[in-house]
Amino acid sequence: MNANRHEIPSEDIALLEAVGNLADEIEVEVYAVGGYVRDLILEKPTRDIDFVVIGEGPSFARQAKQRLGGHGLVVYDRFGTSSFLVDRQKLEFVSARKESYQSDSRKPDVEAGDLETDLSRRDFTVNAMAMNLGRLRFGEITDPYRGRSDLTRRLIRTPLEPEQTFSDDPLRIMRAARFAGQLEFKVEADTLTAMEEKRERLAIVSQERITDEFMKILSHQKPSVGLRILQRTRVLEIIFPELAAQVGVDQRDAYHHKDVFEHTMKVLDNLAMMSDRPLLRFSALVHDIGKPRVKRFLEGTGWTFHGHELVGVRMLNRICQRMKLSKEYLSYSKKLTQLHMRPIQLIGEEVTDSAIRRLLFQAGDEIEDLMMLCRADITSGNPRRVARHLQNFDAVAARMREVEEKDRMRAFQSPVRGDEIMELCGLKPGPLVGRLKKMIEEAILDGLIPNDHDEARAYLLDVKDEVLSRDREDAHG
Ligand code: CTP
Repeated sequence: MNANRHEIPSEDIALLEAVGNLADEIEVEVYAVGGYVRDLILEKPTRDIDFVVIGEGPSFARQAKQRLGGHGLVVYDRFGTSSFLVDRQKLEFVSARKESYQSDSRKPDVEAGDLETDLSRRDFTVNAMAMNLGRLRFGEITDPYRGRSDLTRRLIRTPLEPEQTFSDDPLRIMRAARFAGQLEFKVEADTLTAMEEKRERLAIVSQERITDEFMKILSHQKPSVGLRILQRTRVLEIIFPELAAQVGVDQRDAYHHKDVFEHTMKVLDNLAMMSDRPLLRFSALVHDIGKPRVKRFLEGTGWTFHGHELVGVRMLNRICQRMKLSKEYLSYSKKLTQLHMRPIQLIGEEVTDSAIRRLLFQAGDEIEDLMMLCRADITSGNPRRVARHLQNFDAVAARMREVEEKDRMRAFQSPVRGDEIMELCGLKPGPLVGRLKKMIEEAILDGLIPNDHDEARAYLLDVKDEVLSRDREDAHG
């Protein structure tokens, strides 16, 4: 089978041919492999290119770097991998292997393998295709596990028995959910079963890799796709038990029953349509994390979750620590979780400026993000209700702008300050200086003069005699 030449981005062709020519010259087989070939066939934009070398990856990479004028060579001799950059494109070379593929596997001293064995040791059939780069067979695709057909069927499936593929690297259990979300594919039934059966094996994977993969799941267009797969296979219980605990926790809304997990998935997908910022997406995921712990049934009201924001904030300390997330994640997600019920409480005309001001102050720079989360938090299925809630938030946002505007006015001062007023009018400190200053400010606010020092000074000189003489008259009775 051949990749149609038009499938290869024109800007990559020269580079791929140069790698192929070098391989021909030194009589080594080198193939483009993995995600690059997958995305090529899917006609998706590609960036980094992975190559598999049937032989010594690092030594080939060194020569390729010279030939291509690359920079930033990194070599892991022990793992048979190396990479360098050409412009901003990363090229990674791996020696074909017989054993587990994973570069940070605990068994680094793997035996050299042939192409087919290497492909069999990869994670999914759609990632287990290789493209020949040699002059005679340029663009020819080797696809022993029917990856191309799985791309058409939109299926995530392992090349070998899934138990075997997952034992080689248990992180692949999460990668299956990640690729299903990223590509909007289904996970094949046996693969799904093995994900559940092998889920405990994730315990041997480093938290950094788990978190990295988890964040990738959140980064896709509809993050709920991958998360639901993790939930259905009970992988979520291992990697994010607090989220798994939301399943089955009833939440009553005027029109539906949905559990807290369902609600969270909707909020996250809503938010993902508004922003791709990881911090914000993570906060949407955890904003109701405290709900299962505080739920109470109140006769006549139904389930209540009083105080779930504060419980959530406390839980986030442990969650962020366990996930090895940065301090920024911790403080940001805590802030949004703690404040997410507040804007809704500011709906209504009787709300005071100071209540609004307090929230503005507490939310600080995150106020826009908080409002975005609140909008995403509307998950009613009734479009009229959604529209009404959105309108309410628009009104709160307008009030916030109003208060901010007023506060800016309050902080505003006459451009001619007290000292200058005293000097120009021959005054000592006293209430008259304040009155003159106020007059200048009022004149600016009323639009009589522009907010400008010289204009304000001229205005003062204009009015001062009259004001001073009135003041003298008042003083003399
Ligand atoms: N791979 C694997 N098992 C892993 C990680 C990677 O078999 N645990 C293989 C797959 O063949 C994969 C290739 O290494 O295609 C490159 O891995 P990676 O860069 O993580 O993924 P891509 O498939 O390139 O996908 P993307 O760039 O979209 O993340």
